[in-house]
Amino acid sequence: MLHESPAEVLALPIAPTIKSHYILPSDDTEFKRLNLQNQFLTREVCDGKLVYAPAELEHGDQILESGTATGIWLLSLAKVTPPTISFTGFDIHTRLFPQEYPSNVSFLQRSVINLPDEWTEQFKIVNQRLLIGGLTEKEWKKTIQEIHRVLVPGGWVQCIEPCIPSNTDVGPNTERMFDIMRTLMTRNGLVYNIAELLGRKLSKSGFVNVQTHTVPLSAHQRTTEFSHRTLMEWFFAALKPGMLAAQLLQSEEEFDTLMQSMLKEWDECPEVAWSWSVVYAQKRAAKDSSATYKFCIHM
Ligand SMILES: C[S@@+](CC[C@H](N)C(=O)[O-])C[C@H]1O[C@@H](n2cnc3c(N)ncnc32)[C@H](O)[C@@H]1O
Repeated sequence: MLHESPAEVLALPIAPTIKSHYILPSDDTEFKRLNLQNQFLTREVCDGKLVYAPAELEHGDQILESGTATGIWLLSLAKVTPPTISFTGFDIHTRLFPQEYPSNVSFLQRSVINLPDEWTEQFKIVNQRLLIGGLTEKEWKKTIQEIHRVLVPGGWVQCIEPCIPSNTDVGPNTERMFDIMRTLMTRNGLVYNIAELLGRKLSKSGFVNVQTHTVPLSAHQRTTEFSHRTLMEWFFAALKPGMLAAQLLQSEEEFDTLMQSMLKEWDECPEVAWSWSVVYAQKRAAKDSSATYKFCIHM
């Protein structure tokens, strides 16, 4: 589906009760980008694991994904686990939800800062990936509280976010593009260094066993398959409508020229462009949980 202006791309309808600062589009190109990105992040950042946190699944467990978009993470995990596990994905936008999915998977429109009361202590794992483009400082605090509430005692939260550097060391055009991105995020109240802050925020909210696994990646290498370079290039292309709508660049031509100059710098410079962090943590287990005999499912 083609949209006529940057403002239209971002002005997709969401329920009137849901407020959003989200800066990326929700269209067909984004659908493709997110699905390829899922494969890349699972392979390169999470060592091939969909669940990086050391969670042990049992029959009857429920798994939740916040900001699920295309549902690709949930659907991939549902494929490799028994149908006795149930999955719920929610998002403020329903546009990217899959059309077909198994009966143990459901999708609904919801914001992570206001989850249903009946979800209290229901989920064994909560996965949340790339909400960097949607949550303000205050909303991150509420998000962590809500995720803590809906986890069963002993359950795990897993968040995956990029660490966007304050300085790139790659070149002036890359630095300018990053600067525009950081300005767009700051203007929307978003937290571009959330990956660095998340571990502390989780500990402060009562989580235990907080761990951060960080993988630095460069944008240098061109390969035929979906690489980190492709991921970053497509990410900036997805930000184009937001940057133009905020008038941080004056025209599409100005964006396209800057993008080409930035890509040239990436060809020349093998420096790390940014890294990715998997931040995971556990809700304190109930006191007598070790006495229960468990049938664990290997993922
Ligand atoms: C960059 S996409 C990532 C999608 C998915 N997690 C993935 O990794 O493929 C971020 C998603 O978060 C959603 N989102 C933004 N703010 C949200 C909120 N407050 N509650 C729930 N979802 C939100 C957006 O609509 C978008 O679909």
